[in-house]
Amino acid sequence: MFDKKPILSNFGELISMNYKRNNFMTVPARVKIKKLLASEATEQQTNVKGWVRTKRGGKPVFFIALNDGSTINNIQIVADPELISENTIKDITTGAAISVIGKVVASQGAGQSVEIVAEQIEILGKADPEKYPLQPKKHSMEFMREKAHLRMRSSTFSAVFRIRHSLAFAIHQFFHEKGFYNLHTPIITANDAEGAGETFHVTNFDLDKIPMTDEGKVDYKQDFFGKETNLTVSGQLEGELSAMALGEIYTFGPTFRAENSNTTRHLAEFWMVEPEMAFYDLNDNMNLAEEMLKYVVKYALENCKEDLDFLAKRADDEDKQKPQNERQELGLLERLQFILENDFEKVSYTDAIEILRNSKPNKKKKFNYIIEGWGADLQSEHERFLVEKHFKKPVILFDYPKDIKAFYMRQNDDDKTVGAMDILFPGIGEIVGGSQREERLDKLTQRMKEMDIPEDELWWYLDTRKFGTAPHSGFGLGFERLMLFVTGMGNIRDVIPFPRTPDNAEF
Ligand code: 4AD
Ligand code: MG
Repeated sequence: MFDKKPILSNFGELISMNYKRNNFMTVPARVKIKKLLASEATEQQTNVKGWVRTKRGGKPVFFIALNDGSTINNIQIVADPELISENTIKDITTGAAISVIGKVVASQGAGQSVEIVAEQIEILGKADPEKYPLQPKKHSMEFMREKAHLRMRSSTFSAVFRIRHSLAFAIHQFFHEKGFYNLHTPIITANDAEGAGETFHVTNFDLDKIPMTDEGKVDYKQDFFGKETNLTVSGQLEGELSAMALGEIYTFGPTFRAENSNTTRHLAEFWMVEPEMAFYDLNDNMNLAEEMLKYVVKYALENCKEDLDFLAKRADDEDKQKPQNERQELGLLERLQFILENDFEKVSYTDAIEILRNSKPNKKKKFNYIIEGWGADLQSEHERFLVEKHFKKPVILFDYPKDIKAFYMRQNDDDKTVGAMDILFPGIGEIVGGSQREERLDKLTQRMKEMDIPEDELWWYLDTRKFGTAPHSGFGLGFERLMLFVTGMGNIRDVIPFPRTPDNAEF
């Protein structure tokens, strides 16, 4: 309808000519809906573009709720069917992309301060109502996951992914303000930092013709990198190298785990934030993690208010469907506020085991895994008991048995425990895992021997312990676990745009 050839006006804004009419009428610059909704009723002409959420009414006017992703709120377009062609009106259906030129006026209706009285409407892209899957009604989360390519057009998912952006931004800002350097660690590595053997192989072998050695083993020498490689499970080891030069660094990147955990808290591809700090001990490490979590939650409360209000109401409605004993004691916003106002409880693993051993669900055998005594690995049910039932606030567990933790953690004098720490959050369980690192070469190599980790593969890691070694610490924050907590969503598949889980790599 209005073919555009952009030129710059002398005010520097983008305007375009309407050639079809051949009268050089100027078309106003496009304004985002978020900006318009915050503006006055200027009575000026403007241009908005977006996707139709709903159309209702008919004569003498019809209404379009239009959204362009800039805000959870839609702008209302009021249109006179006499001014718009019948064909265009027919194509204004849920999901269609349109461009509207009209005047910004004070809204007659409740719920918005301004609306647009349409003068021209152009269909940019139709959405056949017989086929477009996201009709304006409640869809199940399972259904939305199958439509992950379109689900961001819904209020819930657009809110979630705007918050995801804000949290990522807040994390960068937090570390930047503290003088940390953002470090890009490799995605393809030859190490399994956590030593859990849950890596995805990386190869360019033709899988039907894998070269073998005389001993009948895969001949990785002939592979792309000349050795066996995998996708990284953590950037920590490379992060440590960097901290031993730059002082304080953090990574923020994708990590990959081939653990077959089909839960609401595990992804095969998830994003991790891993700070690593020279000269920090375990206590400094715990304090930094607490400060960071409070900073980003505060940032979200201050900068994502409309999206959080929407999600809080959604979480409330979901909660009401659940039996009384499974409902949350606090609403979403109160839970976020609660984090800011309370010191995290620091508890040693040994004390936590005593609490769990003597707890009601343990004695009554309500836990799936009964805690018999010291040395047991904690399951999510135990972590949540400590946080939600016992302490009723975030808990930092520290000094775990060395046998259930990774090789790089600093050994304590008791010979039994290591300087590990996990932060447990209500509704989530473990959100952060970290430790002070073993900086003493002899202790580190001895532990690697005990755990069958070949020294020659990590010669570069051991070099930092040979040349200018120093106490240092770090942790990993599971970014999607943070997202779960902040958005109140119940499943980790719904806080990452395109989840990767066992049997699922669509999109
Ligand atoms: O506890 P993890 O395995 O620790 C590490 O990887 C260390 N190298 C971190 C460090 O010290 N630099 O993982 C850290 C966090 C967990 O606390 C959890 O929040 C998250 O990463 N996480 C997962 N999130 C989603 N899906 C999975 N499969 C996850 N596994 C761990
Ligand atoms: Mg962990």
